[in-house]
Amino acid sequence: MNDIKSMALEAVLGALHKAGMTAPEELESYFETPADSKNGDISLPCFRLAKTLRAAPPLIAAKIKENISLPAGIEKVEAVGGYLNFYAGKAIYLSMLEGIDEDFGKTGMGNGKTLVIDFSSPNIAKRFHLGHLGTTVIGNAVRNIYKFCGYNTVAINYLGDWGTQNGKQIVAYKKWSSRERLEADGIKELERIYVMFGKEAEKDPSLNDQARAAFRELENGNKEYLEIWQLFKDISLREYSETYKRLGIEFDVWAGESMYTAKMPEIVQELRDKNLLKLDDGASIVDLSEWNMPPALILKSDGTTLYPSRDMAAAKDRYNTYNFDVCAYVTSAGQSLHFAQWFKVTELMGKEWAKNLVHIPYGTMSFGGEKLASRTGNIILLNDVFDEAVAKAKAIIEEKNADLNDKDGVSEAVGIGAVIFGALSNSRIKDTDFTWEGALSFEGNTGPYVQYTYARAASVLRKTEGDDGCEGEYTPNEDEINLIKQLYTFPDRMRAACEDNEPSYIARFMLDTCSAFNKFYHNCTILRESGATRRFRIKLTAATKQILGVSLDILGMRRTEEI
Ligand code: ARG
Repeated sequence: MNDIKSMALEAVLGALHKAGMTAPEELESYFETPADSKNGDISLPCFRLAKTLRAAPPLIAAKIKENISLPAGIEKVEAVGGYLNFYAGKAIYLSMLEGIDEDFGKTGMGNGKTLVIDFSSPNIAKRFHLGHLGTTVIGNAVRNIYKFCGYNTVAINYLGDWGTQNGKQIVAYKKWSSRERLEADGIKELERIYVMFGKEAEKDPSLNDQARAAFRELENGNKEYLEIWQLFKDISLREYSETYKRLGIEFDVWAGESMYTAKMPEIVQELRDKNLLKLDDGASIVDLSEWNMPPALILKSDGTTLYPSRDMAAAKDRYNTYNFDVCAYVTSAGQSLHFAQWFKVTELMGKEWAKNLVHIPYGTMSFGGEKLASRTGNIILLNDVFDEAVAKAKAIIEEKNADLNDKDGVSEAVGIGAVIFGALSNSRIKDTDFTWEGALSFEGNTGPYVQYTYARAASVLRKTEGDDGCEGEYTPNEDEINLIKQLYTFPDRMRAACEDNEPSYIARFMLDTCSAFNKFYHNCTILRESGATRRFRIKLTAATKQILGVSLDILGMRRTEEI
């Protein structure tokens, strides 16, 4: 590439070579963009180099400067207190802008590798609530980031369709419901009887024994129970697919927990052969006290399988099927111990793929301070959140742009985009509290602000269609240079987002890009210009739109050509 960083990197490599020093492989990642351009357009801190080269940083900086020959685009280099600061000539920005194409930012770091990612994965017979928002949108964004970085990705929805709760549902159904009522009221009826089960079981604890027995029957293949269970599952899937459609999320594979019971005996036998299994009060466990963790539960005393053991069987199956390089699980931080435990067990079993298992936890999400509380019945349903966001977006759009063509479509995109962006813009482990004003404002650090900026760029390009060459002499001004520099942080942000599984880096990048673009847009006229100035600015607008568009796609938000 012909950007400043690549040029500076090449020049430094040449200088080190000339001075007889070996460059560390990750030299590229040492470069920084100085906050103040007085300190150069790109800078190389020599502190980490000092370690490998065994010399003081200022000395190394001086040595490199002595041996460097600068390429045409870079005007000067200065060695200051252990830093090497490179100053580019303005012409370089023209060629940098030219260098932004469809593939800009694709690092290729995942080429030839496979990511399996398990996200959303709701427990059947309950509607989506606020607690599902994080896993669903973070999982989707992480999948898209890996894909963009070259990974082959497999998105798995590991439905929670197997466990004692399904035994409870079956008992409740047989006592208080019917096929007719289920057909009529769908998932709401399932929720009604589940809540009822909870209340009744408080009065009559034997119901819990019945539920356990019903689950055991399921595991043993009781035909009647399997049919009822399948009905629950079909009803649930109908409901979920609506939400996924609304979010534009698709899964490659639907493979629920129920698929792995048959594969359990193999795992249990392996654990036994490797002397890892212990009996504890009739239950089979793996002792993890050496790693300061409570024991991993493999089988209950009645022989039925458990959440951790099913996860182990599923992971083994995923490895056999996809030969993954990374197998990721996106859940709330509340499940961190569960994953740490069974990851450890697979390691003790000597699985070579244990090191490829990654848990991606996130903090809680609440609305105006309210969390989900399913047992008290006080749940915030995801579809209600979306409906409300869309209605509010529509009211704002109505006011801002009453003549807009597709008001409903745009309101849906902006309302849902606001919720997605709100869920992704904080570092994922932090707790997020939504407020309507906070998420929907067109001015703050919000989804609507990004989509609005994207639409603004789109509108400029509509008005100047076919007018986007970049030839001719032009010297960019400070706002333009800042925007180009900002756009060129994209590849690094993408790489870091992939390494840290952190969609918020992309969200941050979008906000910074919008602010640089809006400054440029505010200070520089486009439509009233002509010649090289006009063409340069159109090109810059197109590059911004292209990168913002890719970023919106990655976060799972819709591109809004008009707002
Ligand atoms: N069904 C689980 C829940 O709703 C999440 C499953 C996460 N994935 C996994 N492989 N354990 O809490």
